[in-house]
Amino acid sequence: MPGRELDSIPSGEAGVAVGYRMRGKLPVMTLAPRIPLPGGTTIPQIGLGTWPMDDAEVERAVRSAIDLGYRHVDTAENYQNERGVGKAVRECGLAREEIFVTTKFNKEWHGDARSGVTGNLERLGLDYADLVLIHWPNPDQDQYVAAWEGLLALREEGLARAVGVSNFTPPQLQRLLDATGVAPEINQIELHPYLARKAARAFHAEHGIVTSGWSPVGRGTDLLDNPVLARVAAAVGCTPSQAALAWQLQRGYVVPPKSAAPERQAKNLAAAQVVLTDDAIAALDGLDQGEAGAVDSRTFGH
Ligand SMILES: NC(=O)c1ccc[n+]([C@@H]2O[C@H](COP(=O)([O-])OP(=O)(O)OC[C@H]3O[C@@H](n4cnc5c(N)ncnc54)[C@H](OP(=O)(O)O)[C@@H]3O)[C@@H](O)[C@H]2O)c1
Repeated sequence: MPGRELDSIPSGEAGVAVGYRMRGKLPVMTLAPRIPLPGGTTIPQIGLGTWPMDDAEVERAVRSAIDLGYRHVDTAENYQNERGVGKAVRECGLAREEIFVTTKFNKEWHGDARSGVTGNLERLGLDYADLVLIHWPNPDQDQYVAAWEGLLALREEGLARAVGVSNFTPPQLQRLLDATGVAPEINQIELHPYLARKAARAFHAEHGIVTSGWSPVGRGTDLLDNPVLARVAAAVGCTPSQAALAWQLQRGYVVPPKSAAPERQAKNLAAAQVVLTDDAIAALDGLDQGEAGAVDSRTFGH
């Protein structure tokens, strides 16, 4: 509901507002921009990441995020919280089509995407998902092409409005292209300034695949304490996490930062208002530590 008026404005820090702007004397919610997907739908560039929240915690987190202006939630079969996500989406008071729901299915469904997605939808309690991803390629099974063909059929039927993959390498993406002639709409990969994934991003750009970066504020690393990130953030007047998110948002990528805390959810959403200079982006590009820190999706997956 763009422009919804609110009773209170959450407090932010630094110079970047936390998801609200003023219209006259009234605060007005600011939503994340939506970007087009190749299949014809649009996706809000900022979503709420939900791993590793359980059903009860995720229900609270999604409700708070929606109140703050989030319109996109990122879940998965593997997170075991689709019931909580679906309950929050169904009961939030907004029309179904106002919330973009991304989910993913596990490797056991690669040969039967229909059962995988039907399971996603049953747990979510929804008639369709806005985006379904093959969570990992699991090349040891050698069934991800069948999974992709299955997803394309389900998009035709409307059970998934958009379809894509996660953690696919360029050669694995190429194999999907060779087999079907159709590129995934999105590839969701681990991506933050320490792990810049230049080769994957170049492949995505060449083939019209939208990049989405998981762990966008660098969970499990010291990224948010990095002095270069701190310097860039101070120069712009935002927080380090906002600068890390803006580094992806300005390139047109989709980010699903996870936070259970409304205050941090609000700050992450407000990253859409941060404008980094070319020099700032180049400084953050310089933090790349290469692929060594990435999970190897040729051998890991579920
Ligand atoms: N496709 C895949 O294989 C895959 C893999 C991993 C994750 N994901 C998705 O991507 C989402 C995000 O990735 P992630 O959860 O790994 O990492 P992340 O979003 O980079 O980091 C989440 C962590 O950072 C904290 N945090 C969030 N915002 C913050 C802020 N503004 N300031 C300080 N700390 C902040 C959170 O704590 P609080 O909750 O306490 O704020 C949480 O501990 C996941 O939730 C999931 O939906 C996908």
